[in-house]
Amino acid sequence: MEGATLADQAAAEGLHIPRHIAVVMDGNGRWAQQRGLPRLAGHIEGRKATKRFVQASAELGVEVVSLYAFSTENWSRPQAEVEGLLALIENSLREELRELDEADVVFRASGRLSQLPQSLQEMLAAGRKATADNQGLTLNLCLNYGGRAEIVDAARAVATAVHGGELEPQDIGENDFARHLYAPELPDVELLLRPGGEMRVSNFLLWEIAYAELVVLDVLWPDFEREHLLEALRIFTRRERRFGGVPQSIS
Ligand code: IPE
Ligand code: IPE
Ligand code: MG
Repeated sequence: MEGATLADQAAAEGLHIPRHIAVVMDGNGRWAQQRGLPRLAGHIEGRKATKRFVQASAELGVEVVSLYAFSTENWSRPQAEVEGLLALIENSLREELRELDEADVVFRASGRLSQLPQSLQEMLAAGRKATADNQGLTLNLCLNYGGRAEIVDAARAVATAVHGGELEPQDIGENDFARHLYAPELPDVELLLRPGGEMRVSNFLLWEIAYAELVVLDVLWPDFEREHLLEALRIFTRRERRFGGVPQSIS
């Protein structure tokens, strides 16, 4: 379909558009290694893929993308890579913020942000403030993010509420708990997308992916193009989501 927009193409193919896509942006290191380059070169190229992905998701009418940029486990990498990666994230946001705002994107960050470098924390706060009134795609950047850490942080908040007499332990329901997650206003993840070929979750959004469809693609993140997103949506569209029920043909 020459000249057709991405949204036209998705509509023509009858693709289901998930409300919330979570991406484990993986494979930057291998991309660099294959070219004899330092790992940081892979992260720099990965940044371009991130931009393509955000633009394509906005064009398709996805409501939320959660992007795994730095995990609580990634501190174990060599110090130079950690510092380079965090500086790259900060600079990218500084350079892209105006364009994100013009594209009506709502920017927010999730994770144990207070453990990040001060200048990065300030940039995240500035991004959030500048885009808070926008109406388009929500970009949830997950930084120093761990699914277990998020659940522990929520458990602490619930325990504090119980301690303060606001809640009885036997009354704690799923919603009382979920209210204390990092981004309770966001819809559940419908599609968990992992480029790079690894069939694992790596501590990403453990609560939020309870009923997500998992799609793993062999392409490395720096090579991820719009066509790969369409490919993931084709796989997503073919899946039968049952939520513990029976196939629709039976009900
Ligand atoms: C990027 O890919 C993920 C981040 C932690 C930013 P990797 O750096 O994990 O790349 P691979 O898996 O080593 O190829
Ligand atoms: C997950 O990728 C973290 C991010 C993409 C930020 P990793 O490369 O760190 O995960 P593992 O080591 O393959 O589980
Ligand atoms: Mg990796």
